[in-house]
Amino acid sequence: SKIFAFSIRKDEEPYLKEWAAAHPNVTVDYTDQLLTPATAKLAQGADGVVVYQQLDYTSETLQALADQGVTKMSLRNVGVDNIDMAKAKELGFSITNVPVYSPNAIAEHAAIQAARILRQTKRLDAKMARGDLHWAPTIGREVRDQTVGVIGTGHIGRVFMQIMEGFGAKVIAYDVFKNPELAAQGYYVDSLDDLYKQADVVSLHVPAMKSNYHMINSQALAKMKDDAVLVNVSRGPLVDTDAVIQALDNGKLFGFVMDTYEDEVGVFNADWSAKAFPDARLKNLIDRPNVLVTPHTAFYTTHAVRNMVVKAFDNNLALVEGRPAETPVKIE
Ligand code: COI
Repeated sequence: SKIFAFSIRKDEEPYLKEWAAAHPNVTVDYTDQLLTPATAKLAQGADGVVVYQQLDYTSETLQALADQGVTKMSLRNVGVDNIDMAKAKELGFSITNVPVYSPNAIAEHAAIQAARILRQTKRLDAKMARGDLHWAPTIGREVRDQTVGVIGTGHIGRVFMQIMEGFGAKVIAYDVFKNPELAAQGYYVDSLDDLYKQADVVSLHVPAMKSNYHMINSQALAKMKDDAVLVNVSRGPLVDTDAVIQALDNGKLFGFVMDTYEDEVGVFNADWSAKAFPDARLKNLIDRPNVLVTPHTAFYTTHAVRNMVVKAFDNNLALVEGRPAETPVKIE
């Protein structure tokens, strides 16, 4: 059988080669290009494709793949919010993702950045860089003195809870799907409002859906404690960026951790250092001393990348060979 992979980065190549070497009966070919209606023809003759991109898998893109006879598609990431599911269903696609490549990668990043906000390290670093070795005003807040409110208690949210408890924080959680073990231990509050009211740190660990678009809007922010810290390492559209900027401007928020951004597609994972920066609102956030922006790199560790590649190829081979894949995506 033959599997073709799109948008393979340099850091993924060794893991792709490792997988190919372990599967000598499978022909593996790849490109560094994204999957678009124009590049879909590269998959000609393949039985399945392995993909990752933040660019939408539009109806045209899916149609272009299907026109090559390819309807078995394995994502190397977890999020499926950028797939035209109605079209995938119409064309009879089978899709897999990798829901658990390394929850620790994302949870650790959230914890590290939240702790950096609490200790004001960005302000301190800037002071040090200009030779100002005063202590004030960068006094820190200890993690153990915080109530950490975790929205979404899937794999990532649960690891984040453990890390923050390791620091001694009080952890509370909200989820529409209650994890029975966490419920028995009394972690869940009854409503988001309860969580906003109690939490010093609010951290998002939910997938993006139509129903939670801009769930962190001005009303939600108003319900939070003064000097709350907001952490979004999940999906940009969950957060109304303008409302957050307002809450930073009026001092409601103590700080903001932002690894995902509602307008990130085409902006993140590109080098703007020698070009005009394309997004003034994003630049405004990057320049703030109490905002830590990273370009969707919470997931980006050696551990995660290896699992993303290997698990996606395992899944795709299962689809191609007509076996049940380990992590199919529900197409509905
Ligand atoms: C995902 O796995 O869905 C992510 O958000 C990480 C991705 C950008 C590689």
